[in-house]
Amino acid sequence: MIAILEKSIVEGEVNVSGSKNAFFPAVGAGIALGAEKIVIKNTPKIKDVFVMLELLRELGCEYKIQNTEIIINTEKIKLNNVSPENFGKIRGSVVIFGALLGRFEKAKIPMPGGCKIGKRPIDQHIKAANSLGYRVEENEEYVEAYGAPKKEGKIKFDIKTVTGTENAILMSINSKVEIENVAIEPEVQELINYLKKYGVDIRLELKEDKILIDGTKREKIKEVEFELIPDRIEAGTWLILAAATEGKIKIKNVIAEHIKAVVDVLKECGAKIKILGNKIEVEGNKKYKPVDLLIVASYPAFPTDLQPQISVMLLKAEGKSRIKDNIFPERISHIRELKKMGADILVENGEIIINPSKIHGAEIEAKDLRSTAALVIAGLVAEKNQTILKNFELIERGYENFVKKLKNVNAKIEVFEDEIRKEEIIKGISNYVPYST
Ligand code: EPZ
Repeated sequence: MIAILEKSIVEGEVNVSGSKNAFFPAVGAGIALGAEKIVIKNTPKIKDVFVMLELLRELGCEYKIQNTEIIINTEKIKLNNVSPENFGKIRGSVVIFGALLGRFEKAKIPMPGGCKIGKRPIDQHIKAANSLGYRVEENEEYVEAYGAPKKEGKIKFDIKTVTGTENAILMSINSKVEIENVAIEPEVQELINYLKKYGVDIRLELKEDKILIDGTKREKIKEVEFELIPDRIEAGTWLILAAATEGKIKIKNVIAEHIKAVVDVLKECGAKIKILGNKIEVEGNKKYKPVDLLIVASYPAFPTDLQPQISVMLLKAEGKSRIKDNIFPERISHIRELKKMGADILVENGEIIINPSKIHGAEIEAKDLRSTAALVIAGLVAEKNQTILKNFELIERGYENFVKKLKNVNAKIEVFEDEIRKEEIIKGISNYVPYST
């Protein structure tokens, strides 16, 4: 798919959908709890969710979709081999490992995938299973864990990992376990809430980055129902998009606390932001202050999933900004594309260096989900020519109704299925002139 974008000033209201990354642990919680029926409300209709549902079907589950509600029937779930093909398409699939261990005390999964944003090993997930007493065998294609888990144990992560922490919780659901050095992203905290709702004795010791879980006395659950929190990365994308395009929008259905780090940075730069309960009003500015050094790290710090988007906005600052992404330092595919648009941006000593730049439209290509969002912002900011963004379909992995929402706030975007159609449309409706440099 190709998106054609033109400079726009966004204005209006936008409603944030349910959280992509809270969906996977919700599925995991239902399976690990042994529920036959899992109802997940406020589910976004995005590709990564559909891939996960396909994987569940391979495991023997059935599902149906009713508006924003997904109903999964797990009565026939088995330890079927799931296909590496689907498993490798997304990262969220990895929670199936912990979920199956929680339910059957056995699991075999192919290697998970996800966006190509650098190394994404699962050594910590395996360490968690080993710490619980599982025997784990792995080769290039599969990871298999078996053997009875300890009734009491301790898992200590070497680094903070979001899905690793989720898996540790899910595989500990029948034991009494202390999990140390945990990730505390809102999606992890939601998983804790999901389990608490169904009587699991689990708590997060925030000051010590520790989770204590005692599942030894829990009761059998037949049916569970979870409602997904709003997607904080979608909300953050809208905030940055409005600020970058000098627009003004009201973002509805947000938990402001979840994007505090983003709001703080934007305010420091000079965007006007008002928080009104579960709504945020943002008004962009013509000029921004640069950020001396933005450190991207685990929650509650600035999220890596918004690093490409803020990189684009900072091109408008009146001085040099630096970003250090400590989570995915190789998440830099947007940089090459921004250069094609005339941006003075580079990577030096593991930092992204952003100098003030006026960008122009160009033919560019997205490589992963968040860089697609960032390049859309770039296309809406760019002067002179239209921007032709290839691989636009990547956006559908994680943003629900993105084009419709963009059009609702007056963003100039048209999407075409293929190259030929694009050429026809360009000849017909626009005065596109390819940029010659
Ligand atoms: C989750 O991925 C999210 N995905 C990602 O969102 C997000 O970017 C990431 O957390 C960081 O916030 C889902 O929740 C499905 P990690 P995850 O394990 O869990 C290293 C998006 O765009 N690591 O917290 O895979 C790893 O290489 C996506 O929505 C190990 O070394 O991320 C990274 O440097 C992209 N060994 C760091 O830890 C391990 O065993 C944090 O990764 C696990 C991770």
